[in-house]
Amino acid sequence: MRRMAIPQPPTSYLPPIAKIASYTSTQLLDALTYLKLLYNPEVRGSHRIRSNAARNRGSSPIDVKWRCDDEDSDTQLIRSDTFERSYTIRWLIALVARMEDLLESIGNTQIESASTFHGPVHPEILMQQAASLLAICSGASAAGTVERIFSFGSGEIGKIDVRVTDIPMENQDYRSVGAQTWGGACVLAEMIVQHPEQFGLGFLTGENDTCSERPLRVLELGAGTGLVGLTAAKVLIAFSAKKDCRATVVATDFYPSVLDNLRANIDKNFPGDPSDGAVTITSHFLDWSKLSATPSAPELLSEPFDVIFGADIVYEADHAIWIKKCLERLLRRPSTSTACPLAATFHLVIPLRPTHTLEADSIGTTFRWTDDIPRNDYPELALLSKETILCEAYRDGDGKRGCDVVEYLYYKIGWSRRG
Ligand SMILES: C[S@@+](CC[C@H](N)C(=O)[O-])C[C@H]1O[C@@H](n2cnc3c(N)ncnc32)[C@H](O)[C@@H]1O
Repeated sequence: MRRMAIPQPPTSYLPPIAKIASYTSTQLLDALTYLKLLYNPEVRGSHRIRSNAARNRGSSPIDVKWRCDDEDSDTQLIRSDTFERSYTIRWLIALVARMEDLLESIGNTQIESASTFHGPVHPEILMQQAASLLAICSGASAAGTVERIFSFGSGEIGKIDVRVTDIPMENQDYRSVGAQTWGGACVLAEMIVQHPEQFGLGFLTGENDTCSERPLRVLELGAGTGLVGLTAAKVLIAFSAKKDCRATVVATDFYPSVLDNLRANIDKNFPGDPSDGAVTITSHFLDWSKLSATPSAPELLSEPFDVIFGADIVYEADHAIWIKKCLERLLRRPSTSTACPLAATFHLVIPLRPTHTLEADSIGTTFRWTDDIPRNDYPELALLSKETILCEAYRDGDGKRGCDVVEYLYYKIGWSRRG
């Protein structure tokens, strides 16, 4: 499904306030649909349109083709423009007032007045939509805040909806990048829904499942708004409904306002007591640069994890090294005594930004390939596979439409089995 483009700002797109009465109900509904896309969009995540994945080292760059509905930056600029937002609020107030008048006329059977409102959409519907948009646009922290519903589909578990709120970056501080949801999270979340078993989540339904004696432990590093962790939790809940199994999901980040928003997103998707139920999800502070120097990890992080996710978390020189140190502490080591046959794995998706190629390369210099590790060496964290994912990101702006190809790398990292 293509999202409709936001071609112009509200000041040029919306019918003039003074002339609202002369527009048809269909035209006004169109204007409300435009405002909903701008200030309260429903996003369908990336979806695969062709898959031909080679999963080994050295795979050719065009392996998998995905389409991402990444937003263009023009839309984001319009959304964060306070002048456009206050104009929209005034426009919506005028529309609500006009619909109230019309409804009163209809109630008083003043047919003449009511008949000036031509078109098939009832004023009550327009008034309700305008009022709910008004609440969204004039909310306390409205400027730059956007709530999205990501909808991912899979034959096995059906439709997974995740509600995620992005907040404005704090004082344009680059460290608060986790305030927004990034394309890598969208790609990874959809991959999880489509192939949960490839991420160690679907095994819960297996015939010979011996893992249910302890909860599966899932961690997200640099969770930001939490899309990946929330999606994993919803997938696990779908499985737990089929089979008696338990899982703990911990979504982590280090930036205070990002963590507050992450907590709010968890509450929105899982209202009620987080400790209640077979699958729990919580947020937790975790700074990759500091964990290895912390003598005892906080309780929630003290036990190792079976599955670790990371979306778009390698964009500075030290990130790969810090993340490796975290994994050494947090990724469950292989053990012959464990009842669970699952090999703990870190799943990492990063975009290939032309400006950050060195940082992306740092993964290859920080982790060795598993088959490069000599047989008698101690087990170490190694690259198990690398896959290239191509997304078609549609752009609309200046009246032109186009399609950019965005390249992502998907790494699987785990303990080498050659020691
Ligand atoms: C580009 S954002 C990606 C957020 C999210 N994974 C997504 O894809 O939407 C990078 C995330 O890494 C987090 N981060 C950066 N440095 C970190 C550190 N030293 N410790 C923990 N998290 C960190 C940021 O706060 C941010 O949430």
